[in-house]
Amino acid sequence: EHGLHSADYPWPHNGIFSSYDHASIRRGHQVYQQVCAACHSVALLHYRDLVGVAYTEDEVKEMAEENEVVDGPDDTGEMFDRPAKLSDPLPRPYPNEEGARFANGGAYPPDLSLITKARHDGQNYVFSLLLGYRDPPAGVTVREGLYYNPYFPGGAIAMPKMLADGGVEYDDGTPATESQMAKDVTTFLAWAAEPEHDERKLMGVKWIFVLSLVLMQAVYYKRLRFA
Ligand code: HEM
Repeated sequence: EHGLHSADYPWPHNGIFSSYDHASIRRGHQVYQQVCAACHSVALLHYRDLVGVAYTEDEVKEMAEENEVVDGPDDTGEMFDRPAKLSDPLPRPYPNEEGARFANGGAYPPDLSLITKARHDGQNYVFSLLLGYRDPPAGVTVREGLYYNPYFPGGAIAMPKMLADGGVEYDDGTPATESQMAKDVTTFLAWAAEPEHDERKLMGVKWIFVLSLVLMQAVYYKRLRFA
């Protein structure tokens, strides 16, 4: 069964020449880190991916060093802990799917690296889903441990409502309303699924510029030199 179809929201990065809103990626990472990271990984992201996109290199290094990772074996054959560095992936909440299901009453919080690509109309879906919790309509009952949300296929999701006004602390002072957090975390996840997006559009602009020079030269040659 399909979920309720989301509205089509005007994401600023949708325009053919538009880049991501990087302040929103930064805030969205803060929502991910303070809320979603308790249950969901973004396994394809490494700390260094955030450098120059959402944070400075020093900010990301400091963030990485707050986490310990297991490395090794060293030259004595022992494993050891060390602070994370830029080349490490962002930490995962569970070691594997079984552990994740055990902690979530049998439901699996999927990895969010590609969620905006993997789901139909991904960014509108994620945004709508996060804001889509309602009381079930009269006559509809939802099983214990599930929550009514018409945007989720089947209408009952194992993830409780996660966003509430003031739920995160933004370092740029933006008021953390529910819809602000939903927008920012969706922007962060959309960027995570295509981190090369801005570079690709910039290359497009450069190509159009170069090709237009070539075209002008060709017109000049044809009309004023050759004819
Ligand atoms: C499912 C995003 C926080 C537990 C999902 C899905 C999305 C999502 C998009 C649906 C995936 C699908 O269509 O299959 C987020 C975001 C979060 C967040 C953006 C932070 C704002 C959390 C937290 C928990 C959690 C903190 C655990 C307490 C789950 C579970 C599912 C799920 C168990 C699977 C639901 C089911 O299959 O019925 N999440 N999530 N999520 N999430 Fe979250």
